[in-house]
Amino acid sequence: MTTAGKLLEGLETRYKVNSLLSPAAMVGEVLMEVFIPLIMANIIDIGIAGKDIGYVAKVGLLMIAVSLFSLLCGMLSARFGAVGALGFARSLRRRLFSKVQDFSFANVDKFSTASLVTRLTTDINNAQNMYMMIIRMCVRAPMMLISATIMSFIVNRSLAVVFLGAIPLIVIPMLFIMKAAFPRFKIMMKRYDSLNSTVQENLTGIRVVKAFVRENHESQKFRDAADAVRSAQVKAEKLVILGMPLMQMVMYVSIIVIFWFGGNMIIGGTLLTGQLISFITYLSQILISLMMLSMIFVMLVISRASIIRIVEVLDEQIDIANPVSFSSSDASYSLTDKSSAVLEKKGTDSVTAVKDGSIDFKNVFFSYAGTQETSVLNDVSFSIPTGATIGIIGGTGSSKTTLVQLIPRLYDVLSGSVMVGGVDVKDYDLEALRSSVAMVLQKNVLFTGTIKENLLWGNEKAGDDELIQACKTAHAHDFIMSFPEGYETVLGQGGVNVSGGQKQRLCIARALLKSPKILILDDSTSAVDTATDTSIRTSLKETLAHTTKIIIAQRIASVKDADTIFVLDEGRLASQGTHDELLSSSSIYREVYESQKSLSAVDLDIG
Ligand SMILES: Nc1ncnc2c1ncn2[C@@H]1O[C@H](COP(=O)(O)OP(=O)(O)OP(=O)(O)O)[C@@H](O)[C@H]1O
Ligand SMILES: [Mg+2]
Repeated sequence: MTTAGKLLEGLETRYKVNSLLSPAAMVGEVLMEVFIPLIMANIIDIGIAGKDIGYVAKVGLLMIAVSLFSLLCGMLSARFGAVGALGFARSLRRRLFSKVQDFSFANVDKFSTASLVTRLTTDINNAQNMYMMIIRMCVRAPMMLISATIMSFIVNRSLAVVFLGAIPLIVIPMLFIMKAAFPRFKIMMKRYDSLNSTVQENLTGIRVVKAFVRENHESQKFRDAADAVRSAQVKAEKLVILGMPLMQMVMYVSIIVIFWFGGNMIIGGTLLTGQLISFITYLSQILISLMMLSMIFVMLVISRASIIRIVEVLDEQIDIANPVSFSSSDASYSLTDKSSAVLEKKGTDSVTAVKDGSIDFKNVFFSYAGTQETSVLNDVSFSIPTGATIGIIGGTGSSKTTLVQLIPRLYDVLSGSVMVGGVDVKDYDLEALRSSVAMVLQKNVLFTGTIKENLLWGNEKAGDDELIQACKTAHAHDFIMSFPEGYETVLGQGGVNVSGGQKQRLCIARALLKSPKILILDDSTSAVDTATDTSIRTSLKETLAHTTKIIIAQRIASVKDADTIFVLDEGRLASQGTHDELLSSSSIYREVYESQKSLSAVDLDIG
């Protein structure tokens, strides 16, 4: 599909119609505009020269009518154009946003959040301006150019030839200017990109910036980025502004030339005064159209960079998608097949229910795309029966998070297989799989809104009793009730107004509301005191007897009571067993245990 086709895909008919009406109305406006000088010439040459007031009044009224009609067409064209262009931007923005919603973690990793934000905002605005220009200016300028030229030939052929000589004088230097300016504008757009990412990164991390007293450093970074944009833009505009004086010079010289030749023609009786005046108007219409055309080229270059960036997102292959009928059993299951699956939200033969919470890893290898690391997970195999409690321990960077992310298929394995409820995760309908697996991510996010609204993410239909029950299990109920507004307390962006431990407990409660078959807690009680941590585990055990629970932790105390504990070491499953078994069989486990015990046996609750 062409770039234009990709951008226009799915544009509503209403906006398409507006986009076509705009140039249509523009045709009316331009035709009237070139007609007016002709009427004026007649008023002067016939009415005024012949002292015929009746003619002047009659044709004068016609001129007013034509002007009003031209004005009306202009207004309509601007309105249709605005509606069309805004509709285009809206439709494109929606498509881009929903595409990003379908992105897998790997897709998001590739683009970076800051870049996606720029693409959805600045780039779409540029695309909108370009669209507006195409449906209006790209019609107006050539049309004005051609019709004004034709009119001038109709008025007086020999004089027209004279001023046609002026056109190359303006076109050739303009081409040089544009050619030199193109690369400069490209550089300018790149600098805008880095300015945007500086702003986004800084605003997202403003708390960290303040905590590390890096304001001056950040301000300097911003100043540098802003300066870079300024100097690039000055460099580009420097060339473009040469165009204006150039055009004016050519225009005034042409006017003098035309007055010279035209004056002689009038004396010789081959030209009338009014015709000369209309000629000057056509001349300026032609030169202004040329100027406009050159501006259009500049604008197209600026927006081209944006269009490319938008199309990149639209073209991105979504690497995790629902299985489709022809491909799940097909050995040549290629990337293209997968992306077409996205269009068909629900695969026809995908499994839509997770039977139970059993998990099997068979010779799983995994690595992140675009990293040097050959294998983040190395030949991992294990079996977890449904309802079991599993602890995962391992040094930082030992791939604990990576391992559990494969269970709800946030990433796809490189080789081997991950089975949930006896079925390969690739054969599940994604929504079915993910709603059965609740994962409290290591980097928790709460959204702007009340506590209740945030909890309902887990289950929209949950009643107040269910909410309270989940919060009690997660030991969040008491502190929620201590807020004056209780469950209606409004959380700031990202949950800034609750403490780290409170946030973790809210996230656990939110996950519990999903009534999952598998519950994964990735270091989810790290900010909670040990006593509360223990009570949370006890109540999880009581209320979620049939749910498979996977607890990743740094503290031995958090996993010690698990049915099986996995010890991960540099992407390998080093050992597994109960607490007591591991104490005797795993040196890594024993080391961690000893080091934590020596810190404070009482505090760590491992006595
Ligand atoms: N999105 C990513 N892209 C590329 N590499 C990644 C990504 N996430 C993690 N890694 C790398 O994969 C390896 C395992 O990371 P992982 O987050 O699974 O460790 P972890 O055991 O959860 O560590 P921690 O205890 O600190 O949370 C690390 O070397 C890390 O650098
Ligand atoms: Mg982790």
